[in-house]
Amino acid sequence: RSEEKVTVYFINRDGRKSTTSSAKGNSLLDLVVEQNLDIEGFGACEGTLACSTCHVILDQKVYNQLGPITDEENDMLDLAFGLTDTSRLGCQVCLSRDLEGITVRVPDRVNDMRRSDDAGPTL
Ligand code: FES
Repeated sequence: RSEEKVTVYFINRDGRKSTTSSAKGNSLLDLVVEQNLDIEGFGACEGTLACSTCHVILDQKVYNQLGPITDEENDMLDLAFGLTDTSRLGCQVCLSRDLEGITVRVPDRVNDMRRSDDAGPTL
C-alpha cells in the first residue's frame, strides 16, 4: 500500500507560503530536509535537541492537538528567539493523520545555541 502523506503549509520567514507533504511519522525537520525547503539554518543539530533553529510557531488548535512537550524540548525551546505560547521544535513534532493540512510558521530569526558555546580559540 502506498505511503500515507500529510500535507503541511509552511510560512517561511519572508511570508511566502509553500505547500508541502511528507510521510506520516516524519518530523517537521524531516519534511524540511526532504522537501528541500529554503529555511536558512533550520535544524542545525539534526534533531538532537541541541539547538533551537527548528523553532516553529503553530496555530493554537494544532498546538493543543500535539502531545505533551518533554523537559528536554522545553529547555531548548526556552532559548529560542521569539518564543510564543504555541511554539514547538520542529524536530520533535511528528506528522500524523490528525495534522493533515496544518500551517506551520517559521519565526523571523533563530538562535543557534551551538554558536554561543563555540567560543573556540581566537587566532
Ligand atoms: Fe536542533 Fe531541533 S534541530 S533542536
